[in-house]
Amino acid sequence: MNSSPWWKEATIYQIYPRSFFDSNGDGEGDLPGITSQLDYVKSLGVDAIWLSPFYTSPNKDGGYDVANPRDVDPRFGNLEDAKELIAQAHKRDLRVIADIVPNHFSDQHEWFQAALKAGRGSKERERFHFYEANTDGTPPNNWISIFGGPSWTQVEDGQFYLHLFDSSQPDLNWENPEVNADFEKTLRFWIDLGVDGFRIDVAHGLIKEDVLTNHPDPQGLSDALRLDVAMDFEKRNALLLTVPFFDRQGVHEIYRNWRKLFDSYEGREIMAVAEAWVHPPVNATRYVRADELHQVFNFDLLTAAFNSDVLFDVVEQSISLNATVNALPTWALSNHDSPRVASRIGDEQARALALFVFGLPGSTYVFAGQELGLPDGQLQDSDRQDPMFFRSNGPSKGRDGARVPLPWSGDTTPFGFSNGKPWLPISQSWRDFTVENELADPKSSLHLYKNALELRKEFLVGAGGLTWLESSRHGSKEDALLSYSRGVITVVMNLSDSAKECDVAGKLIIVSGGTVDARDGKKVIPARSTAWFLT
Ligand code: GLC
Ligand code: CA
Repeated sequence: MNSSPWWKEATIYQIYPRSFFDSNGDGEGDLPGITSQLDYVKSLGVDAIWLSPFYTSPNKDGGYDVANPRDVDPRFGNLEDAKELIAQAHKRDLRVIADIVPNHFSDQHEWFQAALKAGRGSKERERFHFYEANTDGTPPNNWISIFGGPSWTQVEDGQFYLHLFDSSQPDLNWENPEVNADFEKTLRFWIDLGVDGFRIDVAHGLIKEDVLTNHPDPQGLSDALRLDVAMDFEKRNALLLTVPFFDRQGVHEIYRNWRKLFDSYEGREIMAVAEAWVHPPVNATRYVRADELHQVFNFDLLTAAFNSDVLFDVVEQSISLNATVNALPTWALSNHDSPRVASRIGDEQARALALFVFGLPGSTYVFAGQELGLPDGQLQDSDRQDPMFFRSNGPSKGRDGARVPLPWSGDTTPFGFSNGKPWLPISQSWRDFTVENELADPKSSLHLYKNALELRKEFLVGAGGLTWLESSRHGSKEDALLSYSRGVITVVMNLSDSAKECDVAGKLIIVSGGTVDARDGKKVIPARSTAWFLT
């Protein structure tokens, strides 16, 4: 029996409920839909599912605008459906991670509605950040929202409220103890219902300091915070050191208390993973100190170029920084907020990188559809629903491309996802990417993921640290190859556009694409491909 906690080197499958499987023909995925596909999820070889929000919400920001965190939105089902999903997942030995959104509520939450009614100076308004306008009528400060436009919206009586995201997502005031009390209630509610952990949305944002201070370059800062805006590396880093609303010391106090709450559930091993975009990267390790959270996302692979020096640095830095607090890193190539990896770096490269990452120590996150090698959906502007698109007035196309529903079966769109019209159109060109098609093709991305995750479990979970073999950072002349060994496995990635010979012992057990030739003890790794060797 493995005595280490279940989450330590788990593979966690992220499900965006609206896009996974529609059980009732209304064009939107739902909880019973997820439950009906748990055998598929289990067959991938993952250990847990993380569900993006399915709570009561007007859905202005894909459910990250929560109007009641302790209930299920009717579009997704009801609480009984949530219980059934959890029960069925547990029956298959799959853990369930819920998303918790503590930085803000929806403006439809009863607290915000009460704050609007109660007026200035009221206790109700103290749960949010309400301030008077400047004497010239402008908002209290010049911050720009992460989705574009001002961070402040004015209400009828003239006060402004702060929202780092959409105007429908008022930021909560964490200096008010009622806020923490309410969140602890929500955590307990879901733990009591059976969930095994939480993904903490905008974990670094809760505490605001200097709310009345202007930023010297608000537009620059807002651009620096957005992954879709290109910016000089040094300039971005310098700006990110000046964010006045993220990563304040006070957030750690909150997570220390939450950790006590989690640990009070004896025998449950409740875990939490922080979504914390912080700078410099060393700050992320504070979220996973021994008495805080269990994991923190490393987002570097969502933007890293397919280049051996870049990838070496990302991996090495994440492993070594986490080691300083005795934590293991996390790896994610795609999520619901960023372009899908196959579109970003190319499909062969995406397969190679996945196989490279599955060998690493720590937890890996797989965004539903990634296992199929899905690209981003091609959408018309008229299809788009992401507030990022609307608030930026066009230059940012937003995140809908990564959220197009999954293709399951058949030859015509919507490929078994729904009997109705899917909430975002699924292109006919996705025919080859259906689960059904890929199951029938032993060379598919789906089979690669299944095989790799099985081998990972067999040989690599718990195998300890890695030893770099080939890397130009270590003076290799060949910067096309990046390789390491871990336990009994050697992982070799060829990033170049031509096959490369490499000096590696052992028996080939999996390759992400193409065929490995073995001549005179040397192995030839195909272009844009990763191979694992068992020694
Ligand atoms: C997180 C979520 C994202 C959401 C934002 C605001 O970054 O991942 O989808 O829009 O928080 O809640
Ligand atoms: Ca539905």
